[in-house]
Amino acid sequence: MTQGDPGRILIVGGDARAHALAWILGRSPTVTRIDVAPGNGGTAAEPKARNVPIGVMDIDALVAHALAEDIGLTVISPEDPLAVGIVDRFRDAGLAVFGPTAAAARLESSKAWARAFMVRHRIPSPDFAVARDLTTAEAAIRRMGGRCVVKADGLAAGKGVVVADSAEEAMTAARAMLVDGGFGAAGEQVLIEERLEGPELSVMAITDGVHYRLLPLAQDHKRLMDGDTGPNTGGMGSYAPVTVTPKVMERILKGVVEPTLRGMRDEGHPFSGCLFCGLMLTASGPKVIEFNSRLGDPETQVQLPLLTTDLAELLRAAAEGRLGEVQLAVDEDQAAVCVVLASDGYPESSRKGDPIRGLDAVARRVGVKVLQAGSRLVEGDVETNGGRVLSVVAMAGSLQQARAKAYDAIDRRLKDLDCDGPTGVGFAGMQWRTDIADQGPQPPSA
Ligand code: AMP
Ligand code: GLY
Repeated sequence: MTQGDPGRILIVGGDARAHALAWILGRSPTVTRIDVAPGNGGTAAEPKARNVPIGVMDIDALVAHALAEDIGLTVISPEDPLAVGIVDRFRDAGLAVFGPTAAAARLESSKAWARAFMVRHRIPSPDFAVARDLTTAEAAIRRMGGRCVVKADGLAAGKGVVVADSAEEAMTAARAMLVDGGFGAAGEQVLIEERLEGPELSVMAITDGVHYRLLPLAQDHKRLMDGDTGPNTGGMGSYAPVTVTPKVMERILKGVVEPTLRGMRDEGHPFSGCLFCGLMLTASGPKVIEFNSRLGDPETQVQLPLLTTDLAELLRAAAEGRLGEVQLAVDEDQAAVCVVLASDGYPESSRKGDPIRGLDAVARRVGVKVLQAGSRLVEGDVETNGGRVLSVVAMAGSLQQARAKAYDAIDRRLKDLDCDGPTGVGFAGMQWRTDIADQGPQPPSA
């Protein structure tokens, strides 16, 4: 039996995904108070929510806070605390927590471990090799014909992946990770993977380790620039729902989600929390590009607003091992689109301190929500403070309408000049993609 007041929730995170959680959990009639550690300028302004100045890796202080404040459920937003065992620590203290243990979170925290798991359980995935030195990397790159994907083994905020067109490009990436140490410990070991082709799909299963409930299927846009060009980022936009044929859905559930949950149970570390399957729908069926051990960012921003189920009850049931009692329902008549506004220089660097304009004007629009991430409050004004600054989310009766609404909420004039009376949100130097959800609503079914 876990302790705490079920109405009191602690969200660990300060990203736009944490803001989305605070927004949607705040709507729940069963939630009375939400603490967000450390939160951001946006979470502080949500009804029922307040920020708590504790960092996501300060696990001792987070556990102490949850005990002192009678927290009934803690929800972990980012991957780093999961990888070092925040969930194990909360459970040891008798606290209900939504997320996997460190052993289960290896599905994300070690790409090499995850690939070996996929082989053990025959989960469809690309050919791959693990290399700790350049000679081994080069042999694998040659074997795959040059066009391949080079990945740092550990956590690298979505940036430790290079999709190479040639052996030279792949070798440069492998050298940067293995020899130059550009990714620190995360790059001491690299994966060389067969390069798959096809549309990508994000599949999230909320699970207690045994039962699971799927969030609406979503698509993320990872490259910085239009037409899927430029470097990989943490995600520049997303949309949901994505529809696939019943046959593809069957292959996803029977070929990926269920064997993964079963395999994790059989190996003695059941996965509870959100199992995120990043898939590519190839000509020979869905294959796993990566697993993540948490909700997606920016997918969460478009999935949660489509739920008609009480999110707090869903996450509590998953955390307490009774998900079999709770169904997940979505509003089938709604679609959501998220466009990320990133700061100048992202992803290599990020300019900070630019005033964010138009937040009040957009807050009055129906069906539009601006979620904050890399922002901070300075003397009552919100300014940029990180790479991905805002997630502009719009909901409407169709994907096209949601898309139009999201773009209409961005005042592109603010990029270059500080115009008066902005009609939407924005800030100097902002970068955003103009083609989010363009190819929707349906990726080709493989
Ligand atoms: P990851 O961080 O592993 O999700 O990789 C980031 C992005 O790189 C993915 O969303 C894909 O667009 C691309 N990618 C990763 N692995 C592969 C692969 N084996 N084949 C093709 N593209 C890939
Ligand atoms: N959207 C990809 C991720 O959350 O890693």
